[in-house]
Amino acid sequence: MSFPTSRLRRLRMNPTLRSMVREHQVHVSDLILPLFIVPGSRVKKPISSMPGQCNLSVDMAVEEAKRIYDLGIPATLLFAIPDYKDDTGSSSWQDNGIIQQAIRAIKEQVPGLYVITDLCFCEYTSHGHCGIVCDGVLDNDKSLEILVKQTLSHAKHGVDMVAPSGMLDGTVGAMRKGLDEAGYTNLPIMAYSAKFASGFYGPFREAVQSAPQFGDRKSYQMDPANLQEALREVELDIQEGADIVMVKPAMAFLDVLHAVKEKFQMPTAAYNVSGEYAMVKAAAEKGWIDGDRIALEILNGIKRAGADLIITYFAADFAVKAKGGYIQY
Ligand code: PBG
Repeated sequence: MSFPTSRLRRLRMNPTLRSMVREHQVHVSDLILPLFIVPGSRVKKPISSMPGQCNLSVDMAVEEAKRIYDLGIPATLLFAIPDYKDDTGSSSWQDNGIIQQAIRAIKEQVPGLYVITDLCFCEYTSHGHCGIVCDGVLDNDKSLEILVKQTLSHAKHGVDMVAPSGMLDGTVGAMRKGLDEAGYTNLPIMAYSAKFASGFYGPFREAVQSAPQFGDRKSYQMDPANLQEALREVELDIQEGADIVMVKPAMAFLDVLHAVKEKFQMPTAAYNVSGEYAMVKAAAEKGWIDGDRIALEILNGIKRAGADLIITYFAADFAVKAKGGYIQY
């Protein structure tokens, strides 16, 4: 029996060597942890569908921000559950709104942590849709007007980057114009460019109480079957001035992520969403899988597919294990 001269197993025999020739590694500095801010003080209420994640009042969010910053996580993505909801989501642009308070408090007390806000209306509207609804349909251009209001309010209160997630046409262009005209030319936009209408957002909707009261989001979020359309969405966002583009969810859309990175060579983010997290946590709780090992495998896969930044609820667990760097395995 003749042997091939190349024995690929040689490089797999020793853990140090394996890590030296590893092609892709997730580093803590790739990760962004979402936080869910609620009214009140000393509130730290576990979200049952997302084990390990909590609804936090502003004071507790500051504590969590300190903890994750010390763990080496560079950035957070903030969501807010407001104290009132109405037809237009007006609580999203008030000076004393929950998100505005959170931005101010975190930037004041943990200035090194990079604060990104999710810009959408579904948490703020009584109907749970991502803007203004007319005759039962989300009105694109009217919603853009209030989205710019929301954007400028976050900018005024000191946010570092804004991330529009509503999948309205012309979002990035409208926000960029509004920001530039108000003098915020250096405030970057991370666009949820290819965001699919996905069942994987289920647990998140419990976290922020944002399920639509009628209908669904299929007239604005993308059909999960479409890749070409995703590329068109990304291309438009880049033309309109997006600084970072995003694919969301991640795991069932790694081909989209890969195609986006290959085609546009832009700083690219992936959102490892609530359902992807919840599935791992639930199966691990049952003892069916090793949750930590699988989380690492998932994050590695997202990175290998082309993500430069990964928004993930696994961030804090990962950072603890990685001790500010990579996880050694
Ligand atoms: C919209 C928004 C959603 C998520 C992030 N921003 C929900 C939706 O579009 O229905 C989902 C995030 C997750 O599931 O982790 N504001």
